[in-house]
Amino acid sequence: MTHISRRSFLIGLAAVPLAASAGCVAAQSSPPAPGAAPTGKFTRALPIPPLADSTVDAAGTRHFALTARTGNSELLAGKSTATWGFNGSLLGPTIRARRGEAVAFTIENALPEPTTVHWHGMHVPARYDGGPHQAVEPGARWEPTWTVNQPAATLWYHPHPHGSTEKHVYRGLAGLFLVDDDVTDGIDLPKNYGVDDIPLIVQDKRFTSDGALDESDPTDVGLLGDTIVTNGISGAYLPVTTELVRLRILNGSGGRTYNLAFSDDREFRLVATDGGLVSEPTALRRLPLSPGERAEIVVAMRGGSDVVLRSVPADDHGGLDRAAAARFGFTDTVDIVELRPERTLGPSPGLPSTLAPIARLAPSTAVTERDFELQWFMINGARMDMNRIDFSPTVDTTEIWTVRNVDNWPHNFHVHDVQFLVVDIDGSPPPAHLSGWKDTVYTPPGQQIRLALRFTEYTDPTIPYMFHCHLLLHEDQGMMGQFLVLEPGATPRPMQMGTSAPATAGHGGHGG
Ligand code: C2O
Ligand code: CU
Ligand code: CU
Repeated sequence: MTHISRRSFLIGLAAVPLAASAGCVAAQSSPPAPGAAPTGKFTRALPIPPLADSTVDAAGTRHFALTARTGNSELLAGKSTATWGFNGSLLGPTIRARRGEAVAFTIENALPEPTTVHWHGMHVPARYDGGPHQAVEPGARWEPTWTVNQPAATLWYHPHPHGSTEKHVYRGLAGLFLVDDDVTDGIDLPKNYGVDDIPLIVQDKRFTSDGALDESDPTDVGLLGDTIVTNGISGAYLPVTTELVRLRILNGSGGRTYNLAFSDDREFRLVATDGGLVSEPTALRRLPLSPGERAEIVVAMRGGSDVVLRSVPADDHGGLDRAAAARFGFTDTVDIVELRPERTLGPSPGLPSTLAPIARLAPSTAVTERDFELQWFMINGARMDMNRIDFSPTVDTTEIWTVRNVDNWPHNFHVHDVQFLVVDIDGSPPPAHLSGWKDTVYTPPGQQIRLALRFTEYTDPTIPYMFHCHLLLHEDQGMMGQFLVLEPGATPRPMQMGTSAPATAGHGGHGG
């Protein structure tokens, strides 16, 4: 392997696993240079994903229905693009449930191929996690149910089919899952959904000349787009009516990392990370967000004074060398949404000085330490095998995971079922934006990041959870592994399946 160049390694791999995936062909040509300058054209009002309809049964369980389907959308003004969506032609409704509430879903697949629905960031039983083991065949139905038991947070849902996640998300399958709780309800934060509490699903796309999604020629980090699409449209502006606006930002891109900033460089406050509130609002001017990560920020508006939320060149190039930074979008400036406040703004409550205390997991109490080396499309030298269990944590114990990107590519690291804490980065305490609960963390080349994790409540000797790079091409290429959470002393009995055949709906649907 030492004599194989990175590029030929990719092409070699691509010949086999990508063959079945129409959207991903071997990377042979240079990526397009993403737009370096903002277009300055904000022509359409930002769509707000509707809140999902639900009904509560006699037992108090809240029921939702999601159907993955095909359709056409106006991602670009005046052009029709074939897209995929949940309950519509693009993205999905925003699911909202309270901590302590039992939720149940009817998931139907009206796509021409198998998909899954994964609850990213959710603490959920493995059989309902919606990973590659819970494939839903076309025409089939899947009915996961669990009780929400975690702090208020901005989570999301998206497909996770073995080897095709990038394509499914890129075509439009993604939605937000907001968890509410009493703690957050009791804090003065903008919380009027769609008015001063604004979801932003940020994605990058490329289009062919006739307006179709261009799925050709992925870069080494996947389908890097030159057009930013926010909540499903390009060129979005948001009319603002209040002094403070809370933005719940999801990086729903497959490969692009954003370095969020405002066009006038104004300060904003970080109030929540992936898993919920941070301990206190943190003043920032820049906020990096890699694929899959979320952040909630609160920004003050000035009446009549427009400002653009954009991504600016990454500080320190995201830890990449100059060429890689340019190649993978880290030097781009791209606009995400223009905020257009009215001349006279309605009052907002002042932000409190503290939010929610973070109960640190003491590394000294950890019973197990594990090491993860990220390189090429591998973790610890191995690619994903749905029949290989990499390790099995014991429920209700704390573990320390040391993650090292030994590559010169950007990668990140996501773990299912839990929210973790960053203990340190190269021995130093994490910066403010990595100090709260996280389920996905950017891993710059050369750095060593230690995570503290605690798996609780749900055990299953049969069905695993995933950990992986959330750059979706990397994930699809096998930069993923699996673990079981076990009762003390339990023996793993991993489900076996054909390595190429996806699971049927039945695998995920049993039990209760
Ligand atoms: Cu958002 Cu395993 O993924
Ligand atoms: Cu996940
Ligand atoms: Cu990666």
